[in-house]
Order: sequence, then C-alpha cells, then structure tokens
Amino acid sequence: MSVHIAAKKGEIAKTVLQPGDPLRAKYIADHFLTEVKLVSQTRNIFYFTGLYKGKEVSVGASGMGCASIGIYSYELFTEFDVDTIIRIGTCGAYTDELKVFDLLNVEFAASESTYAKFAWEIEDEKLKHQGNTFDLLNQTSKDLSLEIKPTTIHTSDIFYRKSQDLPAIAAKYNCAAVEMEAFALFANAQHLGKNAATILTVSDIIPTGDYISADQREKALKPMIELALETAIK
Ligand code: ADE
Repeated sequence: MSVHIAAKKGEIAKTVLQPGDPLRAKYIADHFLTEVKLVSQTRNIFYFTGLYKGKEVSVGASGMGCASIGIYSYELFTEFDVDTIIRIGTCGAYTDELKVFDLLNVEFAASESTYAKFAWEIEDEKLKHQGNTFDLLNQTSKDLSLEIKPTTIHTSDIFYRKSQDLPAIAAKYNCAAVEMEAFALFANAQHLGKNAATILTVSDIIPTGDYISADQREKALKPMIELALETAIK
C-alpha cells in the first residue's frame, strides 16, 4: 500500500489510464470495463481495475496540476510496478486553428513549472512523451480512423490569470494548447525510465471563448477513451 493509493500490490494493471477527474475514472470503469474492482478510494481519488476485451487495465484519477499528478504517477510507477500511464484529459486551445472536440497527442509539454528541476534535477523546460506509447496511439488512431494531431502543449500551474496575453513559455515553444499535468507526468516517467503519453480533447478555444458544454462532454470524450483503451491492450 502506498501513501496515497490504498490498493494492494498486484491490484493495479501494468497500464493505467489517468483522467484528471475521479468521476471520469468511474465513468470509464462503469461503461467500458468488465469484472471491475474498486482498488483505492483514498481522498475520493478512485482507482479501478477491470478487463477491456479480456485484458487487464486500470483507470484512476490524477487530480489537477503537476503536484497532484506528480504524486499519483510516481506511486503507480514505483509502488505498483506500472509500466505505462496514458493521461486522458482536456485542454484549452491557444489558437482558433484548433476546434473543440479535436484530439491531440502530446509530443512535448513545455512548462514554467519547477517540478522537473526540483524533483529530479531535470533542467529542461520542454519535456518529451516517454517510451513508445505516443507511437502506439498514433498507430491505433489510424486503425480506428480517428484523426489525432501530434502537438506541443503548455502545462500550466495557473488556470485563472490577470493577463489575457499568451504566456511567455507558450509563445517561446509555439504551444497550441494548455493543460495542467503532462509536464510532471513526463518528468516522472523520464526519471524512472517508464512509458508515459498524454492525449487531450480540446474542450475550449481561448481566443474565441467557444467551449464544449458539460452535457456534451461525455459524448465528446468517448473517442479519446476508446483510443486509450485500444492502445492499452496492444
Ligand atoms: N484544461 C481545459 N481547458 C483548460 C484551460 N483553458 N487552461 C488550462 N487547462 C485546461
């Protein structure tokens, strides 16, 4: 048992899908997995293990921000021998060249976060996805006839801010979209030699204010969930 995940050793699969929201993890377990077991509910951050097309997969939340995904992904990799984490999340687009419902495969996450530097002495402000999961996701998206765009994104610690200007780090690395977790996930995986990928559905277009409404979200996220599950069992 780890500090923040109450599952026993062996109760978490080698590949974990990680949405930010615990209720999204429950939705995936309820609608896509069979023989589901709730293996941890510490702090209401639910982890489930079940079968997808007969193969074992776990799904559990990261919470929001680098601090939170930093904790959960580290414990999954080190306490539960997880090999691969696929973050499945939403993002805001910095450009109206992206549209709501677009699906992104994060190639690089750039951040002003000090997480990688102070946790692992990784000085880079732009980190790459880790291992072959990014390629597998691209391949699987072709099999499913889903369009997915390899993208550099901004991982921000800030959701609300005074200035409407594009943050300097996003301009520096030409980031097309913003979310809040991929950088810390990639940092942990890089340090530990594990696989990590992040796929994101565009939920809002920052320059136009366009967004996916709460009741559209369930339907909107289905292709991303299927892509992650089909990739997880490869
Ligand atoms: N996730 C979804 N939309 C976002 C935004 N606008 N900023 C940060 N994270 C997000």
